[in-house]
Amino acid sequence: MKVLITGGLGQLGLELSKQLQARAEITDVYSISRQKLDISSEKSVQVVLIQYQPDIVINCAAYTAVDLCEEHEDRAYQVNVLGPRYLAQACNQIGAKLVHISTDYVFDGHFNNIEVIENEKYLSSPLEYRMNQAKRSIPWIETDEVNPQNVYGKTKVEGEEMVREYCPNHFIVRTAWLYGEGNNFVRTMLKLAETNKELNVVADQFGNPTSTKELARVIIDLVQTEYYGTYHATCEGVCSWYDLACKIFKIKGLEVQVNPVTSEAFPRPAKRPYYSALENKNLKELGLNTFKHWEEALKEYLGN
Ligand SMILES: NC(=O)c1ccc[n+]([C@@H]2O[C@H](COP(=O)([O-])OP(=O)(O)OC[C@H]3O[C@@H](n4cnc5c(N)ncnc54)[C@H](OP(=O)(O)O)[C@@H]3O)[C@@H](O)[C@H]2O)c1
Repeated sequence: MKVLITGGLGQLGLELSKQLQARAEITDVYSISRQKLDISSEKSVQVVLIQYQPDIVINCAAYTAVDLCEEHEDRAYQVNVLGPRYLAQACNQIGAKLVHISTDYVFDGHFNNIEVIENEKYLSSPLEYRMNQAKRSIPWIETDEVNPQNVYGKTKVEGEEMVREYCPNHFIVRTAWLYGEGNNFVRTMLKLAETNKELNVVADQFGNPTSTKELARVIIDLVQTEYYGTYHATCEGVCSWYDLACKIFKIKGLEVQVNPVTSEAFPRPAKRPYYSALENKNLKELGLNTFKHWEEALKEYLGN
């Protein structure tokens, strides 16, 4: 079985390439960097896929700088919408399966609890209120309606639509809060801890921190099936960025005082969802949800 990875030098691309090479059932792994294949070029996509003739294409290439997407909407469209379209068309043409990676930011992330506690909004601080709302909210499942709140999320939704339209043999894999080999929140926190004894971290955005190691394993198991469709794929458990920061410092034994703050304390160009936690419903139904809890995966990543 021959597998081609786009965006091969990104966090997920690197981990997939490593794990695929260790799998006996995979004969060839072609990890292709942006320098070798720009997925927003239709011609290049055609040429490369026809040249390599993979059985499976895993699209890890994306314009992932969420804030920059607001400013560079055209580029985000080219990479996150047209790229998946060209890949889907080419995969369909050569008879390859396509795995396309998407995101929790396809959802609006409103707290979706049905129970409204009278007057709570007025009796507690905005932060306490949102933390309570999160505890009562329900993680999003694959069939929930998408409603992205920023350019990145919108382009990722449209990218999914292209894949569905042009390549029936597809797996759309929505993941979240990724960390692996590259720039990510975990590394940022460790870097900041070198020079700061106190940090303010957003405590009203909730999701599922997910290691590329866990995600790559699940993707490799999934692509060997023919259960095409859309999947949520994240580590188990839900937390805030604040919870995640506290856990990182605890595992590493670093004495950093972490102060919980609201999203308003960190204004960013792109609006973030408050509650974008995902439930791996479809993987669970297939018996393919082998994800660890986020705390366990984090310990492993940090080498403890
Ligand atoms: N990171 C997260 O927290 C997160 C959360 C949810 C979903 N996801 C999704 O997961 C996937 C993998 O994310 P990641 O964290 O591995 O991202 P990443 O580390 O930013 O890697 C993305 C890769 O895509 C490459 N790339 C950008 N434009 C390209 C183009 N036009 N053609 C080919 N390659 C291009 C980048 O190359 P350069 O670096 O040279 O530009 C980079 O190597 C993406 O689809 C992302 O949307 C990520």
